[in-house]
Amino acid sequence: MTVLVPTMGALHKGHQALIRRARTLDKNVVVSIFVNPLQFENKVDLEKYPRNAQRDIELATLAGATEVWLPDYEEIFPDEIKKISAGPLGLVFEGHSRPDHFDGVVTVVNRLFEIVKPKAAVFGEKDFQQLTIIKSMKSQVEIVSSPTVREFDGLALSSRNVRLSAKGRISANIIHRALVAAHLAPSVEVAQEVISSTLASESSFTLDYAAIINEENFEIANNETPNRRAIIAGWIEGVRLIDNMKMGQGR
Ligand code: PAF
Repeated sequence: MTVLVPTMGALHKGHQALIRRARTLDKNVVVSIFVNPLQFENKVDLEKYPRNAQRDIELATLAGATEVWLPDYEEIFPDEIKKISAGPLGLVFEGHSRPDHFDGVVTVVNRLFEIVKPKAAVFGEKDFQQLTIIKSMKSQVEIVSSPTVREFDGLALSSRNVRLSAKGRISANIIHRALVAAHLAPSVEVAQEVISSTLASESSFTLDYAAIINEENFEIANNETPNRRAIIAGWIEGVRLIDNMKMGQGR
């Protein structure tokens, strides 16, 4: 049996953590590298997506991958694409800002599962909405999550971080600072206020959304919601950054 780690390449320590997690589940770990055009609503983002197959193969192998699979478009979509809907969760927050993004994600993940037939697949908590949607897919594959890996200052690792200037890179930890400042707040209202004021203190940050949600269904949380999570998305220097953190229960 095999454990699959689906990626779009541009591997970093976050992907290596997913691969190491996969190795704890099975000795056969396939890392797929496929930059999926269906999940890019923005052509420039797709074109700018960093690609370096040789380096990716090295990093994946070092982390314990037993196979690195780089399918081409025809291998994944040999016939007419059968689009799969991500459902209502695919339309809110990240899905609202990036129309069709999650339909593209579940469509390709479904194809990867059909081809590789893994017993399990590992996804990062950094893309928490993606993780939740993939967990809700009707599939025999066990979905395993792995915690977000962060830089020394808390910035969540992402293939997009390399597009920030040195100045932008310093500012980018504002998202993590907002999450940490809010996570022990005594109520949802205080947490929301702390997040908003922290983010507003960084003038280079453009907010898309910042919300405290019920992590089961992404509805706005209240103080009775048992599993609350803060989710934040925005841009610095035109680079889209997202992050999230489980919130303490406060009162
Ligand atoms: O998280 C990603 O890198 C992608 O969305 C995934 C899961 C590999 C699907 O293309």
